[in-house]
Amino acid sequence: MRKIGSNIYSDGRRIYTLNLTPGKRVYGERLVKWKGKEYREWNPRRSKLAALIKKGYKGPLPKEGDVVLYLGAAQGTTPSHVSDIVGPQGLVICVEFSAKAFEKLLPLCEERQNMIPVFADANNPEEYADLVPGKVDVVYEDVAQKRQTEIGLKNVRMFLKEKGLFMIMVKARSIDVTRDPQTIFREEKKKIEKAGLEVVDVVRLDPFEKDHAAIIALKTG
Ligand SMILES: C[S@@+](CC[C@H](N)C(=O)[O-])C[C@H]1O[C@@H](n2cnc3c(N)ncnc32)[C@H](O)[C@@H]1O
Repeated sequence: MRKIGSNIYSDGRRIYTLNLTPGKRVYGERLVKWKGKEYREWNPRRSKLAALIKKGYKGPLPKEGDVVLYLGAAQGTTPSHVSDIVGPQGLVICVEFSAKAFEKLLPLCEERQNMIPVFADANNPEEYADLVPGKVDVVYEDVAQKRQTEIGLKNVRMFLKEKGLFMIMVKARSIDVTRDPQTIFREEKKKIEKAGLEVVDVVRLDPFEKDHAAIIALKTG
């Protein structure tokens, strides 16, 4: 095993995160012991953040101790790996508006002390402003909505600290099924730049996620 990021490891073929809650699985993933510690396999077909890393992305990622505002947490698959990454000193604020997904997210947040569940619409950040402790280090967004970039940028303006990291998993088909995904990714990137952020990378997530791209940006002020 080789360390490739904060609490992220690779055995050359697969990637893993250091399990914050040893002995416990979140979505049936494989648990692996190495040098007395336990790691959870991180499946790039189940998590776009894992797909981004598997695609060779080497730029900024959430790290130990970070406070992450996670928009579109669903049942907590990727949030659980982000929870491993930020570790016991960090925090993952999980925003989700589907009651069905939230029901499954709740027990996971009880098990993992660094995850806070927030039942809210990410389009209305003022509704959960009280639950966000000051400014956050990372805004991570995966909501598969037509106006996903605008939603993310609203949260960035309100909560992201200077030099903070914005990561958005863009689903071209949610924005417009009829248009070329590459054109859509270019347009979304421009919106982020127009909002004053510095885009550091745009990575297509195929073949793990068809017609998706990750856009990674820094708030430069
Ligand atoms: C693709 S899934 C997220 C998967 C999750 N990020 C993961 O990797 O484990 C998208 C989620 O975003 C949620 N969502 C969509 N729009 C939202 C909004 N405006 N506010 C909060 N959640 C939203 C959906 O209910 C859905 O659970």
